[in-house]
Amino acid sequence: MIIKPMIQGVIARSAHPHGCKEAIRRQISYCRTANPISQGPKRALILGASSGFGLATRIALAFGGAQTETLGVSFERGPSEKGTGSAGWYNNIYFRQAAEQAGIKAVNLVGDAFSPAIRQQVIDTLRAQFDGQVDLIVYSLASGVRPDPATGEFWRSSIKPIGKPYQGTTLDLERQILTETILPPATEQEIHNTVKVMGGEDWASWIETLIQADVLAPGCKTMAYSYIGSSHTNPIYHHGTLGRAKAHLHQTADQLHQQLATVGGEAYVAVCKALITKASVFIPGLSPYLLALFQVMKAKGLHEGCIEQMQRLLSHRLYPDSGPVITDHQRLIRVDDWELSEDVQQEVSRLLTQMTAKNFRELGDMDGYLNDFLNLNGFGFDNIDYTRPISPEELVRLKP
Ligand code: NAD
Ligand code: NA
Repeated sequence: MIIKPMIQGVIARSAHPHGCKEAIRRQISYCRTANPISQGPKRALILGASSGFGLATRIALAFGGAQTETLGVSFERGPSEKGTGSAGWYNNIYFRQAAEQAGIKAVNLVGDAFSPAIRQQVIDTLRAQFDGQVDLIVYSLASGVRPDPATGEFWRSSIKPIGKPYQGTTLDLERQILTETILPPATEQEIHNTVKVMGGEDWASWIETLIQADVLAPGCKTMAYSYIGSSHTNPIYHHGTLGRAKAHLHQTADQLHQQLATVGGEAYVAVCKALITKASVFIPGLSPYLLALFQVMKAKGLHEGCIEQMQRLLSHRLYPDSGPVITDHQRLIRVDDWELSEDVQQEVSRLLTQMTAKNFRELGDMDGYLNDFLNLNGFGFDNIDYTRPISPEELVRLKP
């Protein structure tokens, strides 16, 4: 079997297992030589561990100096008649293999993080394999839907502006063109549902459940991820439905911070840089900004991918060599500082005002964007032989 990239709009329909393994290997080797996390946690639970920020957090925790034991939860598909399985499925497996080779415990649970069943599995696994204690809980889920536990129906998020329509351009990855996007403002119901899916309610429920189960180690920390952005992204993000959901997440962090004080615990939101992940390519209008941002930050030597962001977040913010967690005056951890620096934003503005459907490939970092997108699914690595057949039996034998 030869596996080729299949892209539909902004969705990748195939994943290359050997390339996923290579992506993990490269992230690990970065962490091994980076500025180390010297005060890291012993045991961590990562919700959303199989891709993007959650995966990078897990790799940095294990290989970036702290040798943290991790329990990872994710929603991924294995190989079947229907396809090769999702990239995250292979990321879980190859991460665990690498961690075990290094003598670092890693356990994967695949299932719906919104469900009561997976909460119980997490608690059972913590008790059986992690001394019934966890020192860090990272909440890094990105989902378009969440089941309402009361009715069994789904809340669906909408990525929309609030108050007035949004007009901009979006990169179609399949055809590699910029297309015009017009989005009507969200309804009250759409705002409400987006907050239900991407706000802090499920995070708070997880922490409450884990407190009740008495599996939080003294001094346990929890952290969720957010984005704020700048005037270029405000209309579609910060001032839109996603921004409302993140505002709710920030409030939740403050509430959890008080609640956790009883066990000497702490809760934070980390505001991160805009990066290309499975989730972020869905945000209409973000792509021209990303093209410009990557171009500018690479030219200035300030560019970070997911792994560099997470290593810096853990080593310099959440677990600094000495002293408390480093936050801004709103108690937010900021690793979007380089993205938002004045000279970066000025250069980005300059590029964006010149950018058109004709010149975006030259003005923006089109190669970098495409390559990051391909890499998410194990494609585009120059040292992987994509013409070499893979045996389906080999894939079926791999277990989470
Ligand atoms: P991602 O799609 O790469 O990762 C999402 C993870 O959630 C995956 O591991 C997936 O398996 C898991 N997941 C989704 N639904 C699940 C479910 N029902 N049960 C169990 N696991 C489930 O996304 P990402 O970009 O890494 O996003 C993670 C967080 O980071 C989000 O809160 C996002 O808003 C935030 N963030 C992202 C960016 C960015 O530019 N990508 C910037 C700032 C903040
Ligand atoms: Na450090």
